[in-house]
Amino acid sequence: VRDGSKKPLVAVIDDGTKTVRFVIYEAECSEELVSYQMDKTEVQPHEGWPEQDPYEIMHHIKLCAENAIDQLTELGYSKDDIITLGITNQRETTIAWDKYTGEPLHPAIAWNDIRTDSTVDAILAKVPDRNKNYLKNICGLPISPYFSALKMRWLKDNVKAVRRASRDKRLLFGTVDSWILWNLTGGPQDGLHVTDVTNASRTLLMNLETLNWDPVLCRLFGIHRDTLAEIRSSSEVYGTVRDGSVLDGISVSGILGNQQSALVGQNCLSAGQAKNTYRSGCFLLYNTGTRRVNSTHGLITTIAYKLGPDQPPIYALEGSIAVAGGAMKFLRDNLRLIRDVSQDTEHIAGQVFSTGDVYFVPAFSGLYAPYWRKDARGIICGLTAFTTKNHIIRAGLEAVCFQTRDILEAMNKDCGMPLSKLHVDGKMSSNDLLMQLQADLTGIPVLRAQSWDMSALGVGIVAGHSVGVWSCDKWKHHATHADTFLPTTTDDDRDARYTKWKMAVQRSLGWATT
Ligand code: G3P
Repeated sequence: VRDGSKKPLVAVIDDGTKTVRFVIYEAECSEELVSYQMDKTEVQPHEGWPEQDPYEIMHHIKLCAENAIDQLTELGYSKDDIITLGITNQRETTIAWDKYTGEPLHPAIAWNDIRTDSTVDAILAKVPDRNKNYLKNICGLPISPYFSALKMRWLKDNVKAVRRASRDKRLLFGTVDSWILWNLTGGPQDGLHVTDVTNASRTLLMNLETLNWDPVLCRLFGIHRDTLAEIRSSSEVYGTVRDGSVLDGISVSGILGNQQSALVGQNCLSAGQAKNTYRSGCFLLYNTGTRRVNSTHGLITTIAYKLGPDQPPIYALEGSIAVAGGAMKFLRDNLRLIRDVSQDTEHIAGQVFSTGDVYFVPAFSGLYAPYWRKDARGIICGLTAFTTKNHIIRAGLEAVCFQTRDILEAMNKDCGMPLSKLHVDGKMSSNDLLMQLQADLTGIPVLRAQSWDMSALGVGIVAGHSVGVWSCDKWKHHATHADTFLPTTTDDDRDARYTKWKMAVQRSLGWATT
C-alpha cells in the first residue's frame, strides 16, 4: 500500500496490433502504477489479409480495465481516483459498423493488410501518370494499401452489408480510436463519432492544412463525409464513458495514434527530436514543429499532435517500416527457428559474430518507407553451406536496423541536417544486441527509454494535460532515456554492409509482379 498523499490517476487504453493493454499512471509520474494486458486472436482468412474482431477489442478493454482497477485497490486507491482516460491505438486499421445497431459490418481490416492491391491500381488509374505521390501535397501520404481510405473503398466494393448500410445511411467508418470512443460513450445511444488529428492524418482523406476531411480526396475514394468521424484535437475532453462498464463516468480527454503517442512519451516535443519504436512494425517519427515538411525522399508527412482545440498542429516526418518484430515472429511460427522471441532471439543471434553475409528483407506486405513498393516480397539471400539458423536470426535483427538506416538517410536528406542520436522504445528495444547493431549500422548513439511502453505514457500525458493534472511544458524537461548504445564500427564497414543491404532490397522489388 502506497503512503503519502494520493495523486490523481490517469488511465490509458492502448489498443495495439497484437495486444490490448490498460495502464494507470499517477499524474506527472512516468512509471506505470498498474497495468493489465491481453493478446488478441489473430485471424487471417487469406494470405496477407490480417483481420481483427472489433467486439474482441471492446471485450478485452473491459477485462483489462477490470483487472487493472482490481490491482489499484491493493495499492490503496479506488476507481474514483481515476480522473480521466486516454486512448492510443494501432493506426490505419479500419472498421465499418452500423450506427443504429452498433454491429460491425466486417472484421477490422488491419493496417498491414494487402488485399487492397487492385483497389490501389484502380485509384492510380484516376490520377495523372499513375503517380502514387499525387496526393502528397494535400494529405502527406502516398497512395498505398497501408492507409485507411483504400480499406474503406475495398469494404464498399466488396462487402454487401457495407454497401447496404451506405445506401440506408446507417454506415459509420472509423479507425480503432473512433470505434472505441463511440462504444465507450454510448454506442447506438448517441455514442460520439470522433477521431483525433493524428489518426485522421493516416486515412488519405484529411487535408493537412485545414485539418478537415478534404472534399477532393473523399470524392476520389468515393467516401461520404457523413460516414466519417468528426476530427478533433489530441487533447481535449471529448465526452464521458457511459457503457455500463467499470469505466462509467470517467471523462475521455486524449487520443493519439500509438506512434505519435510514443513521440510524446519519449518527450520529443521540440522540433528536431526523433524516436523509433520497435514493435511488430517499426516507426521513426521526427518532430518538425509547426513547419510541415514535404518529403521528397519517400517519407510521409503526418500530424504529430495538437495539444488542444486552440493549439496549432505539430507536424512530423515519418518513416514507416511494416515488418520489424514481425520478422522474428515469422522465424518462430513459419520456420520454427526460435521457440520464444523475447527469450531466445538475442541469445541465438549472439552466438555468431556476423550474419556471414546473409541478408533478410522481410517485405511480407511489400516495402513501406522509403520505397512504397507493394510488389516487393520477402527474400533471404547470401546463403552458403555454412549458414546456420543463428546467421538467419541475426540477419532478421539486422534487417530492422538497415530499414531504420534507409529511413534515416531519407530523413537527413529531407531535413538537411543529420540526426545525431536516436531515442528508441517498444518491446523489441529490450533486446541489447538489436540496440547495439542499430548503433553500429547507423553510426549514431541509440538512447533507450526507461520503459519500453512509451505509447501508453504519451496519451496519458496529453489526457492529463487537457484536464490540468499533467503539464506538457513540464514534461519537456524530463529525461526519458535509461541507457545508451554507442557505435563500435567504422564508416567503411557500415557503408559496405549497407551497400549489400541495398542490393538485397533491389532483389525483393517487383517480386509479386514478375
Ligand atoms: O501504423 C501502424 C502502427 O500504428 C501499428 O503499431 O505497434 O501496434 O504494431 P503496433
